[in-house]
Amino acid sequence: MSRSTPLIQTIGLKKHYQLDKADSPALEGIQLKIFSGERVALMGPSGSGKSSLLNLIGCLDLPTAGQILYQDVDTSLMNDKKLSAFRNKSMGFIFQSFNLIPVLSVFENVEYPLLWQNLSSGERKARVAGMLEKVGLASFARRSPELLSGGQRQRVAIARALAGKPRLVLADEPTAALDQKTGRDIMELMTQLNEEEGATLVFSTHDPLVAQWAHRIIRLVDGKIVSDPTETANEQVRP
Ligand SMILES: Nc1ncnc2c1ncn2[C@@H]1O[C@H](COP(=O)(O)OP(=O)(O)O)[C@@H](O)[C@H]1O
Ligand SMILES: [Mg+2]
Repeated sequence: MSRSTPLIQTIGLKKHYQLDKADSPALEGIQLKIFSGERVALMGPSGSGKSSLLNLIGCLDLPTAGQILYQDVDTSLMNDKKLSAFRNKSMGFIFQSFNLIPVLSVFENVEYPLLWQNLSSGERKARVAGMLEKVGLASFARRSPELLSGGQRQRVAIARALAGKPRLVLADEPTAALDQKTGRDIMELMTQLNEEEGATLVFSTHDPLVAQWAHRIIRLVDGKIVSDPTETANEQVRP
């Protein structure tokens, strides 16, 4: 048996924002490991640092101190160009407010991140059509996202995040703007895609019903991890 390398590892990760010269601490030494194929929920009250942590893991922001490793490679050693190429190729993002581009159609929104990948136009169009099929929106391809319900918009965002076949999908409160039933459908879909496509899923929520979809729940309070079931298991041999 070999000890598998975590897909993501953070070491002493800190984030402090500067607000009018005042120091605003958001993360205070986050230590975690996430393994390939896992579904991990980040839970904690508002202001506990969930979004800050997802932004750092997603290389959308830089830490004040500490390290983020992807399969043992330290992201601080990558230059901007390499980092954005890595982000475009390896990660998909889903946000609470969907973040779709209103002037693009549903199809074009899903296609957009694929424009940075080395795909032929035919391959790209087939990939988008396949993803829209998977999320049940094939017949909405030509529509503006403005004309869709919240649940449908989040499905578009999921299709967009997964179309590039990322290793890692990061979702910041993906169900917070949805009613409970729609939120459950969205979590079911993300779980299904995690199982079918093998993408590792890290999502934040403060809803215990939503967190139940995770294999593991990491709890944050005031920028610190207060519970992580695998923290001790991390040192054990994994299959
Ligand atoms: N851009 C920012 N500038 C200043 N302070 C911020 C910024 N983003 C977050 N914070 C602060 O960092 C802390 C953690 O926030 P956040 O990561 O958004 O938590 P959560 O997503 O759990 O609600 C909070 O105290 C918040 O006010
Ligand atoms: Mg947040």
